[in-house]
Amino acid sequence: MDALACITSKQQLESFRVEFLGKKGRLTQVLRGMGSVSPEQRPIIGQLANDIRLFIEEQMDTLLLQLEANELEVKLLQEKIDVTMPGKRQRIGKKHPLTTVLDELVDIFIGMGFTIAEGPEVELDYYNFEALNLPKGHPARDTQDTFYISDNVLLRTQTSPVQIRVMEKKKPPIKIIAPGRVYRSDTVDATHSPLFHQIEGLVVDKGITMADLKGTLEILCKKLYGNDTKVRFRPHHFPFTEPSCELDILCPSCNGSGCRVCKSEGWIEILGAGMVHPRVLERCGINPEIYSGFAFGIGLERITMRRYGIYDLRLFFENDLRFLQQF
Ligand code: DAH
Repeated sequence: MDALACITSKQQLESFRVEFLGKKGRLTQVLRGMGSVSPEQRPIIGQLANDIRLFIEEQMDTLLLQLEANELEVKLLQEKIDVTMPGKRQRIGKKHPLTTVLDELVDIFIGMGFTIAEGPEVELDYYNFEALNLPKGHPARDTQDTFYISDNVLLRTQTSPVQIRVMEKKKPPIKIIAPGRVYRSDTVDATHSPLFHQIEGLVVDKGITMADLKGTLEILCKKLYGNDTKVRFRPHHFPFTEPSCELDILCPSCNGSGCRVCKSEGWIEILGAGMVHPRVLERCGINPEIYSGFAFGIGLERITMRRYGIYDLRLFFENDLRFLQQF
């Protein structure tokens, strides 16, 4: 038992077990030697050997429990956490202001039953222009000069091509928005960037009228700018809608009397919209005698600039932390 008293680890305990109780262990040797013991002595010695085995096993079990308890205690001591130590400050990033406003817009539209659609940024001339009633040589193409990959492949100048892609695939009712990047070969200044973002909207179903367009877009403006926002619809022209309009909100800074924010106009332009041109519907295989629809396009940068009072578009894309950390 002196040998057991010296054991301080589980490995030592295992060696002990092998030495005494293992196949070639000392006690096993005694039992093997039983053949040479006289028959009368055999049960007595056998009994004795068994008692010894039981005793050793009991002692080993007790010791094992104790060793495990010790091990746990050492581990707990080593892994102790001092909860009073000052923590490491986690640097948490923030959403880009464009993302914040886009998320808000998406939320508003999803609340009105729209789903999200997507289209490619590298687009075919057919979808970006042709199918939207802008044939080659149409003068309105000049206002949306872009980057051409080849004669018929370009970086999309607007999110409107997603309308065509959706209508080709899905029959009405259609109620989608399509947010995304668009490109124009403009020189960078405070109000122009070769890359910016739009959110396209399209609703097509039986009996859709200009009243649906007005109702939907008025709700959008009220959710975005507050319930007493005043809106006006101004006639305009887009080749893919007829009639077309632009939506303005009454300048919240001056209430219409004219100030720096609205450039003395009293009103601020928010988006372009209109009733989908029958020829556009037809080209997508939708019968304009049965179905009608409205569409709109919102400039994300413009809305975001208005929201935060940002006057230079370049700030969005320069990744200057001094700017981004303010939001
Ligand atoms: N695509 C137009 C632009 O980039 C915006 C627009 C106007 C989209 C009217 C529409 C719409 O869907 O109906 O200027």
